[in-house]
Amino acid sequence: MWQRLKRLWTQPEPAAEEAVEIMPDNIPVHIAIIMDGNGRWAKRRGLPRVAGHHAGMKAIKRVTMAANDLGVKVLTLYSFSTENWKRPQDEVEFLMKLPQEFLLLEIEELVQKNVQVRMMGWRDNVPPHTLAAVEEAIERTKENTGLILNFAFNYGSRLEILSAIRQLAEAVQQGHLTPEEITEEDVSACLLSADLPDPDMIIRTSGEIRISNFMLWQMAYAELWFTDIYWPDFDEPLFRKAVGEYQRRARRYGGL
Ligand code: IPE
Ligand code: IPE
Ligand code: MG
Repeated sequence: MWQRLKRLWTQPEPAAEEAVEIMPDNIPVHIAIIMDGNGRWAKRRGLPRVAGHHAGMKAIKRVTMAANDLGVKVLTLYSFSTENWKRPQDEVEFLMKLPQEFLLLEIEELVQKNVQVRMMGWRDNVPPHTLAAVEEAIERTKENTGLILNFAFNYGSRLEILSAIRQLAEAVQQGHLTPEEITEEDVSACLLSADLPDPDMIIRTSGEIRISNFMLWQMAYAELWFTDIYWPDFDEPLFRKAVGEYQRRARRYGGL
């Protein structure tokens, strides 16, 4: 009883409720989110970790709709990292079932709201049932021109950069270009995010102040925003608060 009460008392502050003024002419084009804290959210409630992942899916829906309403062009969601395979097998299996459930439940609304689903990550190792759900969502939304909902799934930034290095080394070896000719644009073009703009803003929930192998190259000038709120509690007011704070920052890119 006491343990339970203590857990409830020590929960992070509820997400902000106040309405935030957002300027329509300075919406971040690309927002990327490190959705963290599902396990701790569940633990605090005396629930199994997977209950947190399930609740996290609802937050994905809320934030996708909020981003779409604001006119964000790309929303990248870090949903499974190349390092997350280290977790217990039953948790990994559960996580591999979530895309099916999410997309089955939400695909009609995503289609109707003009959202385009994409996946940024390695397709090998991902079980066929997971991949089939993702590919179907990609196929059904590929003509949509609204928000790009980009799932970073089986994604790891170092592996992505390593793969870019290998592609460029190969091009040099075959005589297509010299090492001196390699540009930053060439590197960007070899990444999994090749046809997306770099993120303007990176959000991480759950109080961890780290990047965990996420979009290392692409985030060179991203605005970072952290909150103690666990991902399943992330909601539209908090998302709007983050965007409001982004709008108050001066992005200098090294200039004045
Ligand atoms: C984020 O929540 C979801 C994934 C990494 C798949 P976690 O599962 O990392 O939750 P915590 O950090 O253990 O609380
Ligand atoms: C980062 O969260 C990966 C995702 C949100 C998918 P983790 O929970 O895996 O990160 P660490 O282990 O705390 O750095
Ligand atoms: Mg975590």
